[in-house]
Amino acid sequence: ERADLKSTLLEINKLAAKYFYAQLKTEQGRTAYTYLKKRELSDETIVAFGLGYSNKYSDDLYRYLKTKGYTDEVLMQAGLISMDERHGPYDKFWNRVMFPIMDANNRVIGFGGRVMGDGKPKYLNSPETPIFDKSRNLYGLHRARSSRKPYFILCEGYMDVIALHQAGFTNAVASLGTALTPGHASLIKRYVNEVYLTYDSDEAGTKAALRAMPILRNVGITAKVIRMDPYKDPDEFIKNLGTEAFEERIQKARNAFMFGLEMLERDYDLNTPEGKTGFMHEAAKRLAVFDEEIERSNYIEAVAKAYRVNVDELRKLVVRTAVQTG
Ligand code: UTP
Ligand code: MN
Ligand code: MN
Ligand code: MN
Ligand code: MN
Repeated sequence: ERADLKSTLLEINKLAAKYFYAQLKTEQGRTAYTYLKKRELSDETIVAFGLGYSNKYSDDLYRYLKTKGYTDEVLMQAGLISMDERHGPYDKFWNRVMFPIMDANNRVIGFGGRVMGDGKPKYLNSPETPIFDKSRNLYGLHRARSSRKPYFILCEGYMDVIALHQAGFTNAVASLGTALTPGHASLIKRYVNEVYLTYDSDEAGTKAALRAMPILRNVGITAKVIRMDPYKDPDEFIKNLGTEAFEERIQKARNAFMFGLEMLERDYDLNTPEGKTGFMHEAAKRLAVFDEEIERSNYIEAVAKAYRVNVDELRKLVVRTAVQTG
């Protein structure tokens, strides 16, 4: 019975995706199509990601799906219809650009809908349903899985994934507006052993990258970080600096450890002896955690070089730290 419900929900989502897609070509949908063009998406990209439009009628999707014979209850379970006590059922998505979310097998499992102006929320997403588990799906995976690159580019948003794919980086995926989970990490691990994190340049994105690294490391994925400054995110970076500049950033990506230290710099004043000492103690603590000797030694050398401290002094400090923390 449960399997039955799931396949019904998949059917409904697929019908809705087709419906939204068709709306993009209508008179009402012109604003949405214009919006996507303003964001520099080609027709090919729009088709490839099945982008659509939820129009201004508040219950037309509901009425369309009713003609297919579904009950109100199952439509609500699909997360596309809400119930208003006074006015009855209505479409959850209204006047938004629609991004269908596909699972790895290309089945529509949910939607994100973006306002075209400054309304809130910027993106409205399908709720979790029996077929939509946000912590176990990645946006763009249905296409990224067949990219031949040995790594994924992990970013924050719908538009980042789409802009990257359009620019030829067809190995881009995004966690769906949620922090990276162990579920995401094991999903990624089925396809690649390496991830280039390219989260937004703001504080939230930086913190999210720092939190994602140990989660990736735990499943045996090597993480590197690509910075998008002076731009906000990959979408804006590519629009302003282009594909080659992004490729260069990939080449210059920093590994997780060095990125972590760079973030730590912000907590200390490295121009004072006490600031630098405090910083090196914390760095030593982190270096002491490497249990493979060659790896630890390589990192000690890299840190000594990057922060211009004596490599032997640093090595001694790491040994002392390792002894203290046991
Ligand atoms: P951002 O705020 O960075 O938006 O959120 P964005 O992806 O750059 O969007 P554009 O370029 O302005 O269109 C990153 C991601 O977080 C989720 C979405 O998945 C979004 O792509 N998010 C954000 C939401 O789910 N709801 C929101 O209201 C905002
Ligand atoms: Mn509608
Ligand atoms: Mn962001
Ligand atoms: Mn953006
Ligand atoms: Mn962003």
